[in-house]
Amino acid sequence: MKINDCKLRLETENDWYEVECLAREAFWNLSVEGCSEHYFMHNLRKHECFLPELDYVAEIGGRIVGSVMYSRSYLLDTEGNRKEVLTMGPICVLPEYQRKGISKLLLEHTFVLGLEMGYDVVINFGNPDNYVARGYKSCMKYNICFEGDIYPAALLVKELKEGALDGRKWYYYQNDADAPCNNEAEVEEYDKKFPPKVKAWQPSQEEFYIHSHSVINRR
Ligand SMILES: CC(C)(COP(=O)(O)OP(=O)(O)OC[C@H]1O[C@@H](n2cnc3c(N)ncnc32)[C@H](O)[C@@H]1OP(=O)(O)O)[C@@H](O)C(=O)NCCC(=O)NCCS
Repeated sequence: MKINDCKLRLETENDWYEVECLAREAFWNLSVEGCSEHYFMHNLRKHECFLPELDYVAEIGGRIVGSVMYSRSYLLDTEGNRKEVLTMGPICVLPEYQRKGISKLLLEHTFVLGLEMGYDVVINFGNPDNYVARGYKSCMKYNICFEGDIYPAALLVKELKEGALDGRKWYYYQNDADAPCNNEAEVEEYDKKFPPKVKAWQPSQEEFYIHSHSVINRR
């Protein structure tokens, strides 16, 4: 595969099933047994914070091989000033196309569009290995935390414009588009729309547990 064969375009309604199948292939058994990201996509698309202008797919020879989605969240400083930011995710690439630069294309393209839309910060919760090469840094570096002054190791921040964050302390309030995924019965029900897949344990689930439960407590 040559990266030049990869075309980026906006997702359309006709793509929804194919993109959710892709998400199942990419995320299945990765963080937990099974996955819920296809149900997350389904709910995200109808959430008020969803940004359809940044809902992109990567296509090779008519097959969708990658997807990225964004939504709107906000930061609050200690004076109560509010700043709108992009929350990135989910992002996924079909396993057989991973590590070939497809997510890099998707991210770099949508970062430019996001900036044109007036957003200058992107935040996501994820495995740092996948994002540091795209210029993401630890939330601690930008003084961005959760309520309770918690700086998760997996909370990653990227300035789309240098200096967008001026060092003051911000609290991150992520939209609740992923809340339905906490309902296991709903996820199971939604999963019946797709071909059966076997749930199993794999070591990446322990890696996910470690990343997602870790906090940074010193600069
Ligand atoms: C994470 C994911 C979206 C990355 O997509 P991708 O197309 O495979 O990524 P790319 O090839 O563009 O590489 C992105 C970065 O990953 C890193 N990377 C690439 N190959 C790597 C390898 N063999 N080992 C470790 N890191 C590697 C590099 O930092 C690379 O950036 P660089 O090429 O500028 O150095 C994809 O692997 C995926 O769908 N994984 C399963 C779902 C998932 O984990 N989604 C993210 C949730 S946080």
